[in-house]
Amino acid sequence: MKELFGIIGNPIAHSLSPLIQNESYELHEINAHFQAFHVEHEDLESAIKGMKAIGIKGFMVTVPFKAEVIPFLDEVDPIAEKKKAVNVVQLIDGKYVGFNFDGEGCLKALLEDMNRQSLQNENILILGAGGAAQSIYYTLSHFDDVHIDLANRTIEKAEALKELGGNHRHTSVISLEEAEIKQNEYDIIIQTTSIGMWPDIDQSAINITNLKKGAFVSDIIYNPAETKILKQAREIGANTQNGIKMLAFQNALSIEKWTGQKVNYQKMIDSLTKALR
Ligand code: ATR
Repeated sequence: MKELFGIIGNPIAHSLSPLIQNESYELHEINAHFQAFHVEHEDLESAIKGMKAIGIKGFMVTVPFKAEVIPFLDEVDPIAEKKKAVNVVQLIDGKYVGFNFDGEGCLKALLEDMNRQSLQNENILILGAGGAAQSIYYTLSHFDDVHIDLANRTIEKAEALKELGGNHRHTSVISLEEAEIKQNEYDIIIQTTSIGMWPDIDQSAINITNLKKGAFVSDIIYNPAETKILKQAREIGANTQNGIKMLAFQNALSIEKWTGQKVNYQKMIDSLTKALR
């Protein structure tokens, strides 16, 4: 009998996870099927109970349930607990345990495209202070000697985000306006807000006009494949990256967690790129 895995969210119809998960199962001969489930807020608890009752061994969680799902899980791993967000759940010894791979996926994608093993001494700008920024900042704050500026429209949220880095010595909170002015000081810019996402493709968190030579600009958005900020950055010579690789890594990590099978994520990246064309 096939194992059933899935993703819960709302809306979820446009999720690309079913495509790349099912392709990976086929490629690696994993006897499973992956399904997207649209869940209403008021049904979240019963949906999770139902999934457990029918023996679903793993599922992904996306917007808007990443934090909301926590009270309905049996355990949450320390990283997800700290970030107060879960994106992968695994059934372990009859208990649903929540994990968060957003930060790890983003870091892995960054290092791979920058052709680096680690981060050291970089001046980094994170745009946004929402759920995605929390995971990414938490992961990056483990690098002691990078400098991180957190820029957000609502400064209080960026201040709260800074707390998540514990005693990271080189983190500052700035406004989006300051970030725009200081843009040529950064080695890496990571765009984590929803600004620029389809259909609002002519918007961007900051206007890019002047970047440091060799700067790397990453946007976690993958639809459109090239957001305004990435287009502006590319046009003035920066290296850029969209959210496709991060999405592929998150899916690859979830399959690894559920089945122990390492998957070919390049195939996922190719499928996502094709699907989003
Ligand atoms: P996610 O979990 O996807 O990160 P979120 O928690 O809702 O989503 O966070 C969205 C981020 O995008 C926030 O940093 C938000 O800024 P505020 O904290 O000021 O709300 C940012 N954002 C969304 N729309 C924005 C806009 N029009 N202008 C500036 N920032 C925006």
